[in-house]
Amino acid sequence: MNSEATPSPAVLILLGPPGAGKGTQARMLEQRFGLVQLSTGDLLRAAVAAGSEAGKAAKAVMEAGGLVSDQIVINILRDRLTEPDCAKGVILDGFPRTTVQAQALDHLLGESRQKINAAISLEVDDAAMVARISGRYTCGKCGEGYHDSFKAPAQDGICDKCGAADMKRRADDNAETVGSRLEAYHAQTAPLIDYYRDKGVLKSVDAMGEITTIASAMAKLADQAMS
Ligand code: AP5
Repeated sequence: MNSEATPSPAVLILLGPPGAGKGTQARMLEQRFGLVQLSTGDLLRAAVAAGSEAGKAAKAVMEAGGLVSDQIVINILRDRLTEPDCAKGVILDGFPRTTVQAQALDHLLGESRQKINAAISLEVDDAAMVARISGRYTCGKCGEGYHDSFKAPAQDGICDKCGAADMKRRADDNAETVGSRLEAYHAQTAPLIDYYRDKGVLKSVDAMGEITTIASAMAKLADQAMS
């Protein structure tokens, strides 16, 4: 009988304020390690677009830059985690964002005997985040992210990754909403840095440099945390 236990799928958490680069880095980690990016922001925007009950409840809160209720977000994430592709391991982008969500995640992972390999905190200045968010747009077809100044596609308006001409800007990417999102981050999400430090899984990355330099640092941390 083989006594070696099968390793459980990896769980990486990306922590950081709006515009820190969580989505950008999550997509790069996804490609590099074959993990699945789970963005609660993307899941909620899909629920809003689908007009589901959860989406209807979330829409106004998201447009105002507040946090959607813990119960809605936990339900959405729990459902997504049961899909087969998550067996490859996951990168949680934008979840958890409150202590209640972090405790719910501990509970969910405990049920499937999974553990958090690392919670990586992306450290940036508030001023940089406003610039990053106000210049952001994404491909409506594949979700690849771009920026007016920092990451333009090779051909204006055409996605480098999938070739679609369907660039979109988010409704909550405006100066007033960014202020509320930053406030919500500092009040409700930043305390999770201590939560994960106390659990011994916190890693920090200086996220003020070039996207590729940050990606190398993140890949090194992720590699160590998963080996
Ligand atoms: P969500 O979609 O998660 O948005 P967010 O946390 O505000 O984060 P962003 O997507 O704005 O930024 P990011 O860190 O991913 O940065 P990105 O890589 O795009 O959430 C939206 C809303 O949904 C929330 O406000 C809330 O209402 C709700 N919600 C979601 N999850 C929730 C939860 N768990 N609980 C409750 N409510 C929830 O980068 C930004 C831009 O900068 C891009 O254009 C990119 O190209 C550029 N960029 C990235 N890195 C660099 C760099 N190093 N240098 C220069 N430019 C860079």
